Amino acid sequence: MDIYQYLDQQRQRVDRYLEQSLPDSLRDPEKLYESMRYSLLGGGKRVRPILTIAAAQALGYDHDAMLPFAASLEFVHTYSLVHDDLPAMDDDDYRRGRLTNHKVFGDGMAILAGDALLTMAFELCSQDESRSGLTASQQLQIVRELAYGSGHQGMVGGQVMDIQAENQEVELAHLQKIHSHKTGQLIRAAVRIGGIIGGASSAQMESLTGYAEDIGLAFQIADDVLNMVGTREELGKDAGTDEKRGKKTYPSFFGIDGARQLGDDCVERAVKRLESFDHQADPLRQMAAYIMSRRN
Ligand code: IPE
Ligand code: IPE
Ligand code: MG
Ligand code: MG
Repeated sequence: MDIYQYLDQQRQRVDRYLEQSLPDSLRDPEKLYESMRYSLLGGGKRVRPILTIAAAQALGYDHDAMLPFAASLEFVHTYSLVHDDLPAMDDDDYRRGRLTNHKVFGDGMAILAGDALLTMAFELCSQDESRSGLTASQQLQIVRELAYGSGHQGMVGGQVMDIQAENQEVELAHLQKIHSHKTGQLIRAAVRIGGIIGGASSAQMESLTGYAEDIGLAFQIADDVLNMVGTREELGKDAGTDEKRGKKTYPSFFGIDGARQLGDDCVERAVKRLESFDHQADPLRQMAAYIMSRRN
């Protein structure tokens, strides 16, 4: 299996669904939809929805009925990026190869487009049972996972810790806690939602959760390394910003090579967690390695 080909195919599958869930025929209020579409449809690797799909596939499930749930993670993730870039947070000008949402639409619209994307994620997960192909109980579990991963115990909690740690001395254990919340929890939700869709047993869910926690940390380590070694052209967002904003990162603790090594260790652990799965989990296994080797 060629992971790049797999990622490309699944990205197209997700993109088609995202486009249809937010069509440009939606008109009122026009600026809001324009702003939502600008960020949601303007590129992005779609790692979280693809993780949901790959986790469901690892359990032998591969129907398009899972796409609304996979897409809901991209809605939440995109909202988190729009808000993360605001002047009151990271104050960034570029994202996904273009100006950030607030640079184009203004701060107020960026805040509201983020709010609308977040809310719509839950709309996608709660549509009529007969259309989703899942039971009401599965849908309820998915909504709970998504809320947990996104909110005060998850991504938002991590973002709070992240801004509070700016220009502060932090211990490594605290840095890991920040990462596991601001980035790890949504990735964990993505994989677990795939597990719910695929009908994972509790032992399978435990393995998937361990895998997700390991790759979640690797994902943020890779992001921090790329922030130091990448360029705006490669990343689609400005490089060197963590140091400028006084953010403590894995490379600031361990150097670039040390951070890469720790990320690779996470990947190795993640793959070991999937020992009891058969070849259907190969995309998940290879995505773990891709997370550390990616260039953007
Ligand atoms: C960037 O996420 C922000 C983090 C949580 C580290 P991605 O690297 O998944 O960004 P996109 O979605 O591809 O733009
Ligand atoms: C983003 O973390 C985490 C989110 C919840 C959006 P960063 O602030 O480190 O990510 P980039 O580098 O802006 O994408
Ligand atoms: Mg940030
Ligand atoms: Mg940022």
